[in-house]
Amino acid sequence: MAEILDGKKLRDKLLERLKTQVDKYTIKPKLVVILVGDNPASKIYVNNKKKTAEKLGIDSVVLNYPTETTEKELLNKIEELNNDKSVTAILVQLPLPKHISKENVMNKILPEKDVDGFTPYNFGKLFSGETPTVYPCTPKGILLLLKEYNIELEGKHVVIVGRSNIVGRPLSQMILNKNATVTVCHSKTENLSEITKTADILISAVGKNIIEGEMLKSDCVIVDVGIFKDENGKTRGDVDFESASKVASYISPVPGGVGPMTIASLMLNTVELFEKQQSL
Ligand code: GUN
Repeated sequence: MAEILDGKKLRDKLLERLKTQVDKYTIKPKLVVILVGDNPASKIYVNNKKKTAEKLGIDSVVLNYPTETTEKELLNKIEELNNDKSVTAILVQLPLPKHISKENVMNKILPEKDVDGFTPYNFGKLFSGETPTVYPCTPKGILLLLKEYNIELEGKHVVIVGRSNIVGRPLSQMILNKNATVTVCHSKTENLSEITKTADILISAVGKNIIEGEMLKSDCVIVDVGIFKDENGKTRGDVDFESASKVASYISPVPGGVGPMTIASLMLNTVELFEKQQSL
């Protein structure tokens, strides 16, 4: 039976440490989160981010914009936040409504306030093997979780399922930097299970139940990034936990695995940006 990669436990440990650090500051970091539209999942994520920041003593503001907001209005707001010295971190929750260009919005955020690491500057740094201002939150959280359980990446075959800009793409680079052999699979991959069977570490970030125990190599490590509600309203991940946990040596649960680590990483990034700006 696989050991659980407990994201909640590690989150609590990291946040406790961060709180002690933030308590020492005379001026506080300020995270501004922009939410456009009323995507229900985004609303939950954004509220969690705000609540966690507040617990740490990080000043946090959520700006809610209606779906009809124009790209120009949003860009003007970002410009204002870029110029506001009290704002140390800016996050635009994704996805954005279709009429707004994600590229233009990301391009507008100052790289030194880009708490997601999603601006072209920071993405470019990451993909050229240099160090970005901060690393994207979900990939960062996954690497912290693996490190906590002393799971080595060097020389290992890591299979990532999913090529999103939020998880799969940046994660592939970060894992490559750890000297792993990385395979990125996606919706057009043929014979997925032949590839997953060769994975020492399998990371799935699709949002659909696609990974079963019989697709896995014995004693592999499973990181499940997917999260969605099934037809009975139950929260599920990409991986069939019951069959996979019989084959794997470690597995991250959903909920309680990667989700809490994403929030913890966002808080770490907020503090890192603040310290860089204050030259602490
Ligand atoms: N939507 C889902 N995950 C994320 C994230 O990590 N950052 C942002 N900005 N939007 C998201």
